[in-house]
Formats: sequence, structure tokens, C-alpha cells
Amino acid sequence: MIEIKGVVKNYDGVTNVVDNLNLTINDGEIVVLIGESGCGKTTTMKMINRLIEPTSGAIEIDGKDIKQFEKIELRRNIGYVIQQIGLFPHLTIGQNIALIPKLVKKDAKETLARVKELMEMIDLSYDDYAERYPGELSGGQQQRIGVARALANDPDVILMDEPFSALDPITREQLQNELLKLQDELHKTIVFVTHDIDEAFKIGDKVALMKDGAIIQYDTPEGMLKNPLNDFVENFIGQDRLWKTPDMLKASDVMEKNVVTIGANRSIVNAIGIMRDRQTKVLVVVKNTPEPKTEILGLVGSNRLRGVENGDLKMKDIMKTDFRSTHKDDCLATVLTMRKENNLRYTPVLDDNGSLIGIITDISVLNVITDVMPVSEDY
Ligand SMILES: Nc1ncnc2c1ncn2[C@@H]1O[C@H](COP(=O)(O)OP(=O)(O)OP(=O)(O)O)[C@@H](O)[C@H]1O
Ligand SMILES: [Mg+2]
Repeated sequence: MIEIKGVVKNYDGVTNVVDNLNLTINDGEIVVLIGESGCGKTTTMKMINRLIEPTSGAIEIDGKDIKQFEKIELRRNIGYVIQQIGLFPHLTIGQNIALIPKLVKKDAKETLARVKELMEMIDLSYDDYAERYPGELSGGQQQRIGVARALANDPDVILMDEPFSALDPITREQLQNELLKLQDELHKTIVFVTHDIDEAFKIGDKVALMKDGAIIQYDTPEGMLKNPLNDFVENFIGQDRLWKTPDMLKASDVMEKNVVTIGANRSIVNAIGIMRDRQTKVLVVVKNTPEPKTEILGLVGSNRLRGVENGDLKMKDIMKTDFRSTHKDDCLATVLTMRKENNLRYTPVLDDNGSLIGIITDISVLNVITDVMPVSEDY
């Protein structure tokens, strides 16, 4: 775990480039630092591996102040992919990757094996590429080598400063996917800097949005999308962002929380009264079961009551029993498909315990979609 505690950085004549920054980065997570040019992202990264020292405050790794580590030792255990690739042009690809294992005096055989292993990992064959020079590789290939080199010493922490920003969108996406695949196996602690909000939301377990050397919001991509802390965050991520990433919307985001239950033996007259009092158009018919689990027997929408002449009929006589429930974390697209395929108007939403926590209705879906739709001038 990396903990940045109240860190301030002043350069000569420039104060508070980093301004009382607090950030905790858990093991095995990818944390993305994002923010406008000059907001202090690179400066923050460089303080983590002590390329520069904070003016005040402290950085701890696993509870130990990094000042207590030998600088060289610290850097060997922190891989660093710098802004603008940073391969040595006069060394071959093989030599570039072998640099750090050599520095730490691994023997030649072990180093060679490691270089081969890493090149395989990043999908560039040793036989074809090891003897070439960086200038003979495409930008994307060079970036892959940069990543391989950062992994060479098998560090626990990797700092990646805009590693993919110079690449075309297709190569960039490929490398993002490769990084995520690698991370699935390696579980490194990664601090990743980018300008690009799509990249941040795709790569990051958590995203720290910075402004003027401080963190404005630190949250999961989902949290930031759904609950932007203020206008700055909202403008930065773009107001129509949720519309572009609808898979972030879950059943619990589109449900009506005002869900009203009724017993199976209650009459239609009871039901009409309850609907009026509780201002709902649907009742969930439940069996009395020990909390928290709810056993749902059926649904009664207001349309089912209309035109029924016998007011003594019970809920169990008129309820719709071929309904489907959904889990609160099911994504909106899945829920909508299910509703359409089964011609459902109402979908009860359950939590992990099987408790009823809400109900999805046409209106609740419509409300959310209207909320997240980009505002267009053209109508
Ligand atoms: N060595 C230095 N001396 C004085 N000022 C510096 C120095 N290095 C950086 N700065 C200033 O500190 C601020 C933050 O720089 P930093 O490189 O951390 O920004 P950044 O967020 O990484 O920006 P970018 O997205 O453009 O890479 C900038 O205003 C920059 O001009
Ligand atoms: Mg930078």
C-alpha cells in the first residue's frame, strides 16, 4: 500500500505545485491520476520513487516512510514507464529490457531468460526483436518494450506516466487491453497517469481527478460517474458520459425505491386504498417470511384492478405470477432485454440477501434515461 500524506511540493519560484495531497493506493490496484496539463501528476509520480523530494509531508510504502529506503533500492522495486517512452536509442531492445536485471547483478543466464519471458509477455518475439534498436520499432512496439522494461525486476509497484498518449487510438486500445490482461495475472500496484478520461475509466480501479496540485475527487469510475462531487468533476468527465457508458448503469440505478408490498389474502378494495395512500401503481404480493429475505408471490399493477367487479377477490386470485426479479447489480441493458423478451412491465429488484429493495417500471427507466441523455439543441 502506498500512502501519500499531506504532501506539498514547491519548486524554485513556483509554490504548491502539489498542494497538500493525500492519497491511499491499495495493493494490486490500478489508480489513475488524471487532470489538466500542469496540475502536478508527473511531480506526484516522481515523488513516489524519489526522483524528487516533497517540500513537506510524507510518502509511505507498506507503512514505512520512503525516506528510510535507499533511493536506488527503492527505484529497483518500482517500475517506471516515463512520459515519452524513454528507451535508450543506442541500446538494442534486448539490452534495454535487461538494463535493470543487470544493474541488480543478476547473472547473464537468468537475465536472458527474464528478457525472453518478458518479450513473450508483451507479444514481441525475442528472435525477431531483441537485436533491433528502438528506432526500428513502431511507437506501439516501443511502448510495449517500455512496459516490459518496467516489469523486468518484478517490482510490486509500477508508475506509468502517460505511457500510451503518443499512440494512435487503435494501438492505444490494444495496449490498454494488454495491460489489463497482464494485470489480471500479475496484480501489481499501478499508478497510471493520463489526460484521457476514457482511458482513465477503462484502466482504473480508482481514479483521482487532480486540479492545481490537489485531488478533487478520488473514487471508482462508477462512483465518479454517478456521483460527481461538483461542477468541475462533472465538466471534466463530460455530462453525457454515462450515456456513452450505459453498462455502468445497474438495476439499482433505475429502480423506483418506493416499493410497496401486500399480503396474498388482502382484497382488491384494500389494494386500491394502499395504492392511493402510497402513491404507487404496483404492489408486490409477498408471503410473510422471516426478514430479510422476501418471498415474492406475484405482482399486481393498477391495470389489473381496473374493471374487476368483485371487490372481494384477493391478491392471490388476480396477481401476475409469471414475473421476473433482477439482482441490484445487473446491468441496465440486461434488464431491459429481459423486460422486452418477457413483455414485463414491472421488475422487482433484490439485494444480495434476496430482500426486495425496489422495482423497475417503465417510468423509472424513462426518468433515468432522460437524466443521462445529452442535452441537444436540435429539437
Ligand atoms: N523542475 C521544475 N521547476 C519548476 N517548475 C516545475 C518543474 N517541474 C514542473 N514544474 C511545474 O510544476 C507544475 C506541475 O508539473 P507536472 O509536470 O507535475 O504536471 P503534469 O500534471 O504532469 O502535466 P502534463 O499533463 O503536462 O504532463 C507545472 O506548472 C510545471 O511547470
Ligand atoms: Mg506530466
